[in-house]
Amino acid sequence: LKTTERLELPAAADMHVHLRQGELMDLVVPTIAQGGVDTVFVMPNLIPPLTTVKQVLEYRSKLLAIAQDVHFQMSLFLHPSVTPEVIAQAAEAGITGVKMYPQGVTTNSDSGVSNLESFYSTFAAMEKHGLVLNLHGEVLESLAPANTTLEEAFLPTLKTLHERFPQLRIVLEHCTTAAAVEAVRACGPTVGSTITAHHLYLTSHDACCDPFAFCKPIPKKPTDRDALVKAIVSGDSKFFLGTDSAPHPLQSKTSAAQGKAPAGVFTQPFAVQLVLLALEEAIERGVITEADVTQEKLEGFLSRFGRRFYKLPEVPDKKIVLERKGEKIPVSIRSEDGSVEVGISKAGAEVFSLT
Ligand code: NCD
Ligand code: DOR
Ligand code: ZN
Ligand code: ZN
Repeated sequence: LKTTERLELPAAADMHVHLRQGELMDLVVPTIAQGGVDTVFVMPNLIPPLTTVKQVLEYRSKLLAIAQDVHFQMSLFLHPSVTPEVIAQAAEAGITGVKMYPQGVTTNSDSGVSNLESFYSTFAAMEKHGLVLNLHGEVLESLAPANTTLEEAFLPTLKTLHERFPQLRIVLEHCTTAAAVEAVRACGPTVGSTITAHHLYLTSHDACCDPFAFCKPIPKKPTDRDALVKAIVSGDSKFFLGTDSAPHPLQSKTSAAQGKAPAGVFTQPFAVQLVLLALEEAIERGVITEADVTQEKLEGFLSRFGRRFYKLPEVPDKKIVLERKGEKIPVSIRSEDGSVEVGISKAGAEVFSLT
């Protein structure tokens, strides 16, 4: 990879993105294509959260008005108002999935879920209608036993849901631990997992003290980071790209007190480039070898496996070409009038250019 000057790949499918609303949305949606992506699965944690089919469809038209050439796969926010009847309507309307946020764990999750069993009839309807259940797989801080990460404490719930609804497609979103990789592998083929770009290069050491590296789930130990890299080069189709790119106004990141910045790492404009960079760094650390990173595995993780899991056409209509031109990641992107600015992860790093 290090000596590769040119790469040709199918356009990537980024199966976990936050595109926000208002001027932040106007700023970030055009960066989807810049990062080599043509298909996104869009998160519903807006203000207010997207809990009705009508809200989701209105949001989708706004996104499409900004970027006509992106395929937007949409999701509902799991909430008591998302009944089996709403699931039937959602399926009819072409909505792809339902995201479950445990109450209070992350950005805009105040109306998230506190008791999963009360949603079993909704999950049964999703299983029947072929909607995907997307799990923010963390427990509340107050519920985690000592010395266990919030993600590891959630893994028994993944198992329970899969056993109760074996035909329901479930995605453990943004997995960050070696234990989560194993838990996903231990489930049947209806369970998959997204891996972000940033969890391939960040650890708790970065996230503790840099607001631009702070996100949920919190990046973990170097061995966890390396387990994610190894999952990618294992070629296992259960693992596919979902950047969890989560823009926050620069202001909100920099003005917050230490440890109080909003959670989220913005990677959208360099989604594919950052994955490639992280793999290069893993090669340098000796975690994987050059030979592990084959064209086939890159295509699988970045583009095919996500599409396959979501039952989308596996070959996208677009190809992307990446070349080394000495391009460096800028510090931020800004709206034309300067009213909103978002800091980009790994500013200053040299990456492939999308040509
Ligand atoms: C956005 C914000 O505050 O700018 N929210 C957020 O970052 N959590 C608003 C939005 O959701 O669009
Ligand atoms: O870091 C995160 N930011 N994790 C999430 O789960 C949500 C996201 C956001 O919306 O900002
Ligand atoms: Zn999440
Ligand atoms: Zn997210």
